[in-house]
Amino acid sequence: MSISFTSEEKQLLLLLGWYRRHYALYLGLSRERPATHAGILQFGHAWFGGHLLELAPAFSSLGQKGLLRQAEGTYELTETGTRLFQKLDKSETFYRHEYDNFFTLSEKSAAHSLFCERVYGEDLNQHGLADREELRQLLGFLALPTGATGLDLGCGNGRITDFLQRQSGTHLLGLDISPEAIRRAAMIPNPQLSFQVGNMNALSLGERFDFILSIDTLYYAASLKETVQACLAYLRPNGVFACFFSQWISEESESPLLEGPNTGFGKVFQELGQPFEFLDISGSGRRHWHRKRDVLLDMRPAFEAEGSLALWDYRFREANRYAEWKEAYYARFIYKAAPYSVK
Ligand SMILES: C[S@@+](CC[C@H](N)C(=O)[O-])C[C@H]1O[C@@H](n2cnc3c(N)ncnc32)[C@H](O)[C@@H]1O
Repeated sequence: MSISFTSEEKQLLLLLGWYRRHYALYLGLSRERPATHAGILQFGHAWFGGHLLELAPAFSSLGQKGLLRQAEGTYELTETGTRLFQKLDKSETFYRHEYDNFFTLSEKSAAHSLFCERVYGEDLNQHGLADREELRQLLGFLALPTGATGLDLGCGNGRITDFLQRQSGTHLLGLDISPEAIRRAAMIPNPQLSFQVGNMNALSLGERFDFILSIDTLYYAASLKETVQACLAYLRPNGVFACFFSQWISEESESPLLEGPNTGFGKVFQELGQPFEFLDISGSGRRHWHRKRDVLLDMRPAFEAEGSLALWDYRFREANRYAEWKEAYYARFIYKAAPYSVK
């Protein structure tokens, strides 16, 4: 028998499952902090913003369903609750709510448009790292024939997809898990584009493609290998798969991870026996984080004046974390799978 859940219960499960992950560190919080009612709401508000639902009823109903335990004012998931969270985080995902919030906030912010212009060379409402130069590098690397049909996996609100379409004369389907992003993407007046809400953890597409791109999105895959494998299977014969991928390591990690063939992504291609090429764009990636942080520091008053400090905070905590990262512990690549031949 399957139990059904309200949207509020799902959000609470996701927040509790994420409470001690690295997203606590972005907020300057300890992973070990107690999961109090106020702490959970603070965490939820920081990541889901206006998309955070009224969770009060979910605290008691998840308890009644045996998924949540409360002791001395702190909450934790039971074993069944943890299993359910793991399933939910692949299907609905925490990120969906985070990005719903980001796209809602960013699209109405003039300060954010200017920020994108200054950081990325053009305002395409970007969230990832790829600036106009990197996008052009990608297109040069791929040399797509005019009229080819492609997929942009993790397209956000479609503005980058639109840019790529116009530069390449191709047709593109954009796919993203955020309904807010896709709702906005669908309004772009470009007949060579179409968009759909979809989940790269369970790709289900009605067609195959000459090329599949993913711009700073594969970090969010529940299983990188399964998602890449699924993408390869959606390519037409001689189709090409390409993506941007940054690799961060810590002091304990091994530095070979920063070499193109050995990053998390390179290893997946190797495990799949998939020949590939890559461009090392680590310098561009490192400059990105510093530029982003500098522009944000400079533009804080502009965000504040329009009442967008929550958006500024959201962007700054990420930029600051990665601008602080030791340069020697970071690398960035554009990968391209050699033309796929159906086996
Ligand atoms: C870092 S942003 C990159 C967006 C855009 N490509 C860019 O470079 O600005 C990651 C994107 O991946 C989407 N995403 C996260 N998890 C996803 C999933 N499971 N399936 C599809 N899209 C997902 C997010 O909604 C978000 O738009």
